Amino acid sequence: MARLQSCGGAVSFATYMDWALHDPEHGAYGSGRLQVGTGGDFATSPSLGPEFAGLLAPQLAQWLGQLAAAGPGPLTLLEAGPGEGELAADLARALAAGWPELAGRCQLVLIEPNPGMAQRQRQRLASCPLSVRWCNFAELEAQPCRGVLLAHEVLDALAVERVIWDGARWRRQQVGLLGGLRPEPLIALQHGQPLQPQADAALLVELQLRGLLKVQAGLPCGWTTELQVGVAPWYAEAAASLVEGHLLVIDYALEAWRYNAPSRIGGTLMAYRGQRASPDPLLEPGTWDLTAHLCLETLETAARATGWQPLGQRRQGEALLALGLAQQLHGLQQCEPDQLAAALASREALLRLVDPAGLGDFRWIAYGRGEVLKQPTTLFLREPH
Ligand SMILES: C[S@@+](CC[C@H](N)C(=O)[O-])C[C@H]1O[C@@H](n2cnc3c(N)ncnc32)[C@H](O)[C@@H]1O
Repeated sequence: MARLQSCGGAVSFATYMDWALHDPEHGAYGSGRLQVGTGGDFATSPSLGPEFAGLLAPQLAQWLGQLAAAGPGPLTLLEAGPGEGELAADLARALAAGWPELAGRCQLVLIEPNPGMAQRQRQRLASCPLSVRWCNFAELEAQPCRGVLLAHEVLDALAVERVIWDGARWRRQQVGLLGGLRPEPLIALQHGQPLQPQADAALLVELQLRGLLKVQAGLPCGWTTELQVGVAPWYAEAAASLVEGHLLVIDYALEAWRYNAPSRIGGTLMAYRGQRASPDPLLEPGTWDLTAHLCLETLETAARATGWQPLGQRRQGEALLALGLAQQLHGLQQCEPDQLAAALASREALLRLVDPAGLGDFRWIAYGRGEVLKQPTTLFLREPH
């Protein structure tokens, strides 16, 4: 409330989301309050067990192997937004076990702006078999590396702007204080001013890229959507940090035509806490995760503009089947009686990873840059078997 008052009573949605997630004292991630996992606020694929990293490891090994074959020098496996550090820890173990030579040349670099999260990652990775360090993009840009960058459910945590179609014009959504005679001030979502050609040029470009200017006449009054204003700067920083290699983004993402459907009247923004979901982003600010879907066309434009070549994308279900998930499930049938409980837990995790109504609908989106692009990437982009 005090912050809003000091900012004149209202701020853009992106400013509010940034505070609610990343403020070091009050933000859900910044303070380290949010817990990722089945016993925490929300589950992600790596938090279901080591199966996800085990299936992903051959893809990373292929990409790192291509770089290793192309020349000497260190290789880097980078992860942005590592959460509890489970994916990084499980991947390091899988690489060390399955590809010891590659692992011997590889360092792990974690990019985590939120000190509360980084502290837990340090504990989780205390006995990591790879050398590991924490860096930000600015430090990496000073000494760019060759390797693979993973972004698993991190771009959906970048602050988004929200815009509203009022039947005639687009307006920027604001978060502001409600005045009046209430004993306690309340915060509310408000329709801001109509977008102006000069002051809001960046948002108007995003609207155009999303195809919204073409379909706006068919949208109902009050239709609201998210614009991923943080994505292009993030791709630019990622490109400046990696001279050669691959980027794999795994996240909720929609094609523009799905994102822009008139029926998606409230956008895609959701809040998560304690395994509960709510469409209200203003609930107890700083204690809920806030997340919005990505738009595939926005990602592709940002990637091309910043020097990443898109290599293709698959739904997670298809990607994991191409990487051998069905064979792993089949292998669980041969387990010894004393391993039955572990086999059943593994089976449940594998099935959740490909559930088409849940994690199986996530998108795996691959990009590359540099000489390594001359070599084909095959594993998760081939047909499932
Ligand atoms: C939804 S959690 C995902 C955690 C983990 N990747 C997983 O899937 O279990 C988002 C993570 O991204 C971090 N994060 C948020 N903004 C970031 C940014 N701009 N760069 C890197 N990490 C960020 C958060 O602190 C948190 O660790």
